[in-house]
Amino acid sequence: MFSADQRILITGASSGIGKAIALECVAQGATVLACARDVQRLEEARQASSAPDRWISLQRDFLEGMEEIPAWVRGIAQAHGKLWGLAHAAGEGVMDSLQGYDLASARRHFSLNFHTPCLLAQGFCDRRVGRKGGALLFIASAAAVYPEKGHLIYGAAKAALVAAAKSISQEVAPRGLRVHCLSPGIVDTPMEGRAEALMGPEYRQHQLQSYPLGFGRPEDVAHMAAFLLSEQAAWITGQNFVLDGGRY
Ligand SMILES: NC(=O)c1ccc[n+]([C@@H]2O[C@H](COP(=O)([O-])OP(=O)(O)OC[C@H]3O[C@@H](n4cnc5c(N)ncnc54)[C@H](OP(=O)(O)O)[C@@H]3O)[C@@H](O)[C@H]2O)c1
Repeated sequence: MFSADQRILITGASSGIGKAIALECVAQGATVLACARDVQRLEEARQASSAPDRWISLQRDFLEGMEEIPAWVRGIAQAHGKLWGLAHAAGEGVMDSLQGYDLASARRHFSLNFHTPCLLAQGFCDRRVGRKGGALLFIASAAAVYPEKGHLIYGAAKAALVAAAKSISQEVAPRGLRVHCLSPGIVDTPMEGRAEALMGPEYRQHQLQSYPLGFGRPEDVAHMAAFLLSEQAAWITGQNFVLDGGRY
């Protein structure tokens, strides 16, 4: 549970996992600063939340003006007050291969899945921004730990994020800040829908067979995320939790 003065910046809040985390944090009493590119979808999510007055929508494309991200986070704290938490769920999927390795695609995915969360963390860990006791949460992927064919760039970028989170956790622990990674297997979101459209109708059935508890729902990730962001997880840091319905 949270109080209204526990402000949590959540990226990717217009869809899927990030939206579910934002809705759950609001339901548990926090104030969320919900970020994405599509303000219309953010507004719809705000209206659907249990307390729209504790939902502040912020528009940002993380692939533009990346070097300004730490200052942007500082500006949010100046405008709204110091932050308790930051959850980075903005991301894009990609299916790739060594044969089709594309440098522009690799740079894009490392920008969004690795450089952006590092720069967000740098902003959050500024003494003027992150509150003592608070937490950073990165949505990585089971592909970071168990990469399969087609996960060359995506799995590598998420694995780099998991490694960075461990290092950051040790750097900021003396300041009372925690750092977590959540690594989901397949979760039913629009991103997963796009992957299924690309891979064909057999893909979903084939993947489902290897998930003893079926695919995840965004809420399954959000419950764990809210716990890790909360004071109840005060003695947990530097860990990467795989959520996969028994897949691995
Ligand atoms: N779904 C899965 O099976 C699964 C499994 C493991 C890990 N994940 C990870 O979970 C995270 C969320 O995925 P999801 O499945 O919830 O996907 P989703 O439904 O497609 O949501 C992605 C979110 O990221 C935002 N976003 C994308 N590019 C952005 C950019 N350049 N700048 C700012 N915001 C951007 C999108 O908002 P706008 O379009 O409004 O900007 C949207 O809110 C991703 O990091 C993904 O890699 C997903």
